Amino acid sequence: MTQSPNDSISNSMAQETSRDVGPVVLLGPPGAGKGTQAKRIMEHYLVPQVSTGDILRYNVAQGTELGRAAKAVMARGELVSDDLVCEMVRQRLIQPDCKRGYILDGFPRTAAQAGWLDALLDDKLFDNSRPTRAWPIVIRLDVDYNQLLLRITGRRSCPTCGRIYNVHFQPALVDEICDLDGSKLVTRNDDRLEVIQPRLAAYQEQTFPVAEYYQRTGRLISVNGDRPMDEVTAQIFRILEDHHA
Ligand code: AP5
Repeated sequence: MTQSPNDSISNSMAQETSRDVGPVVLLGPPGAGKGTQAKRIMEHYLVPQVSTGDILRYNVAQGTELGRAAKAVMARGELVSDDLVCEMVRQRLIQPDCKRGYILDGFPRTAAQAGWLDALLDDKLFDNSRPTRAWPIVIRLDVDYNQLLLRITGRRSCPTCGRIYNVHFQPALVDEICDLDGSKLVTRNDDRLEVIQPRLAAYQEQTFPVAEYYQRTGRLISVNGDRPMDEVTAQIFRILEDHHA
């Protein structure tokens, strides 16, 4: 199976600090800021972002078997099958750069995926002696509905480096051009208005119960994702620091 765009995060990067972060799950509806915050955690703690959406989009762009299976489903704003996504995640998490921890962005998003993740973390495949074997820290970003719509419709991203922009909240210095590498920014195929509603409905119906599951098991921490990006980041860092204190 073709791997993710971020499987190039090198082992040397993971060796720069001895800090173990363990698994971090970022939950939240489309546009909540999961990708934005995952990149900041990645830069701060030097652990990889594992974005199922990014991996799937990469596979669609590459025309792999996985991409061909996922393409139409994603274009409709529905969820790709649990079997395909779980196997994709398994292959990513066994990479050496995940040993100190990783940030799951967009996974799990069904009850079946959450159960699968718990079982995987319990598996001997992972070294039981390491703190990364701990249950994941689950952080949910809560954002007002109208704010979500503005964020999704205003999102632009760089096809080269993956940096995320927003025409309302985080514009590029030069309109539609990436500040970092000069690439022309693109709008995601599923950020069209007619696809946004099904995506939000999928979150409500299939992913909200995942948050309830983590809440019942005492693992859910909610963050007010309506706040400016830097404030949200500061709160997430506090949560991670407190968790490991
Ligand atoms: P995926 O790529 O995971 O999309 P999503 O969950 O819909 O989330 P988004 O990427 O839209 O939003 P985000 O929360 O990352 O927000 P961002 O940081 O970009 O999934 C896409 C599709 O893939 C799914 O529909 C499904 O088909 C498939 N898929 C993926 N995972 C799957 C799984 N596990 N199982 C089955 N199918 C799966 O921010 C949004 C915008 O807001 C940006 O422009 C940003 O600049 C701005 N912004 C962020 N934070 C703030 C802030 N605090 N204030 C102001 N603006 C902000």
